[in-house]
Amino acid sequence: MSTTPDLAARAAATSGSDMWHTTPIPGELRRISLADGPHGLRKQPEDSDHLGIGTSLPATCFPPAVGLGASWNPELVHQVGAALGAEASSLGVDVLLGPGMNIKRSPLCGRNFEYVSEDPHVTARIAAALVTGIQSTGVGACVKHFAVNNQETDRMRVSADVDERTLREIYLAAFEQVIRETNPSMVMCSYNRINGVYASQHPWLLTELLRGEWGFEGPVVSDWGAVADRVAALAAGLDLEMPPSGTDDRIVSAVRNGDLPESVVDTAVGRLKHLQDRVSSDSSRNVDHAGHDALARAVARECAVLLKNENDVLPLDPTSSLAVIGEFARTPRFQGGGSSHVVPTTVHAAVDVLDGSCSGPVTFAPGFRLDGQPDAALVEEAVQVAANHDIAVLFLGLPDAAESEGYDREDIELPEVQRDLLIQVRGVCDRVVVVLSNGGVVSVSDWEDNASAVLEGWLLGQAGGAALADLLTGVVSPSGRLTETIPLRLADHPSYLSFPGEHGHSLYGEGLYVGYRYFDTVQRPVAYPFGHGLTYTSFSYSDLELTTENDTTWTVSCTVTNTGGRAAAEVPQLYVGVQESHPTRPSHELRGFAKVFLEPGESTRVQFPLTGRDLSTWDRTHQRWSLAAGTYTVTVGASSRDPRLSTTLVTAGDRFVAPLGAHSTISEWRAHPIGGPVLAEQMRFMRGADGISEEMVQMAGGMPLSALCSFNMGVTTEMLDQLVAGVEEQRQQAIARGEITG
Ligand code: BGC
Repeated sequence: MSTTPDLAARAAATSGSDMWHTTPIPGELRRISLADGPHGLRKQPEDSDHLGIGTSLPATCFPPAVGLGASWNPELVHQVGAALGAEASSLGVDVLLGPGMNIKRSPLCGRNFEYVSEDPHVTARIAAALVTGIQSTGVGACVKHFAVNNQETDRMRVSADVDERTLREIYLAAFEQVIRETNPSMVMCSYNRINGVYASQHPWLLTELLRGEWGFEGPVVSDWGAVADRVAALAAGLDLEMPPSGTDDRIVSAVRNGDLPESVVDTAVGRLKHLQDRVSSDSSRNVDHAGHDALARAVARECAVLLKNENDVLPLDPTSSLAVIGEFARTPRFQGGGSSHVVPTTVHAAVDVLDGSCSGPVTFAPGFRLDGQPDAALVEEAVQVAANHDIAVLFLGLPDAAESEGYDREDIELPEVQRDLLIQVRGVCDRVVVVLSNGGVVSVSDWEDNASAVLEGWLLGQAGGAALADLLTGVVSPSGRLTETIPLRLADHPSYLSFPGEHGHSLYGEGLYVGYRYFDTVQRPVAYPFGHGLTYTSFSYSDLELTTENDTTWTVSCTVTNTGGRAAAEVPQLYVGVQESHPTRPSHELRGFAKVFLEPGESTRVQFPLTGRDLSTWDRTHQRWSLAAGTYTVTVGASSRDPRLSTTLVTAGDRFVAPLGAHSTISEWRAHPIGGPVLAEQMRFMRGADGISEEMVQMAGGMPLSALCSFNMGVTTEMLDQLVAGVEEQRQQAIARGEITG
């Protein structure tokens, strides 16, 4: 016969037993093992820490999210998830702490390498693929950091001050989609505050929205050390504090004092039971490390983005002599610092693979030191090598210390020694290719003229060096696309003036206008737009078709053809905007994409589903998604600035008619389909109404109707009450007849 475990045991279960395990309740709840991280397992031995300072067991290091996002290939990312899950399972890990899904608000965020994009749609699709991949192995996924954790500066206290529409449409949208579509096992709350309230003790975020609206049934775990007030956190919907702060007795006292309903503790334990029923590991499972390394290489090949390629300098002519310059060709920079840091099973250096695959001579020169100190001898050697070869391939990028969890960057420039090296190499060699390794965006503006081609390699995981070599030599064609805009200057960025905030507040004043939503709406020039990426062939788009399935479901389709001479992949992107811009919204927003591999001359038909929600905005006043009637532009393009095919979609909208009240303004009454005619009729009887000109009505438009009672026009509050009640009755009748929604 089972008995309810005592309160102390249940309270203890709402915090961990150590850095990486939950606290069991004998006979009720087993010990669940958690480990980082999003792109490779970081299973630590005893005496562990959570910031990646201590070591961990070797595991395959796949490309971090910055790379996975740029692949625009959810199917492949699903395979990465399954491989991560298999490695976790074999080491007894029940829940993997990832994916990270925060939006890249500013290029300066030190943790951008762990996030997918400045856009919620591509973030959601990539994160969903990771979740379903991980969970296909029985291991749970834990989406993080919920929510609005877009900077590292002051991350454990800062308040992200954001309006609700921006929250819903930008910062929460990907979480909503992934939670609704994939049902991840766990959610990790973030460190920061949101509009003044810690995410870890935010009742609206953790309970009303996450559970109430989105239907999430699993537990919420704190980010490591994110709980400020244990009792407030539990009451708000935070089920598991990690690591334990040793404050379980506060929960017990709060229940005994009547400050915390005991049912809250039971609910949290219930959610942990729900978790244990869903997740499992299997340490007898064999892991194919060689296979995972091959997968890491295949994935990395899809993540690099070819930014420019003048005179088709790429792919490299295999018979040319090659100067391979830059320490990163020998010592790859392939991941970022902090809790996601993985000890890889092996590391591939680009220079080794280039050496093996080119028939012409290949000579390496490091060119610069990784610590950023100038070294004239290294520069001189590199310039000499470049002078004696046909093509110079420079591997440049950000050193490890430039970006990590825990701090933000101060600029987006490449180190000066590397920029100087490039200029000197260009002085002696006509054909220069730059390959970049960086987790956050780097500016290309003041040096890219010195390079015929630029291949943005982001951080590509342990096999990144080999993948870059494969792309340079044309073993495969590049197929990555930008998931974030590369601005001309940092100062052009919409968050420039308010990032990272001050006095404990970061004001998200740019609102919805994050990344390309800003650059494209105000038509500001950029270095490379969102969605951009070249390859070794060309594609044409044709035969756009929009099919209406029902009032809120459409299908957009078009044909994509490989019109060049090489096999490659294209990423057609679906953008939606409005013709009449009310309410104010970005000129266009990504609502779909596909990745299609095509042989030369091959065509395929691509389909994008489109729903009412894709066209909707968040109506804060009525707390609902609003689909306005009107004409929408539907564009399929090769980037946010490269539209190829366009059409329009006309919809009657959701026919929502809001209730009116005495506090509604005169303009709102006049625009209202039911209230407008009723008010016009009433005004005929008002004292002095004959003398009211249209200008006067317009001038009074912003006043609540109730203000009329004060203007000696014979309007009483009783009359207004009657008016409101009459209109509401008509509205309810129209709803009942199905003519409108309310
Ligand atoms: C990070 C999380 C990570 C946790 C455990 C925190 O510092 O923000 O992403 O999962 O540590 O290592």
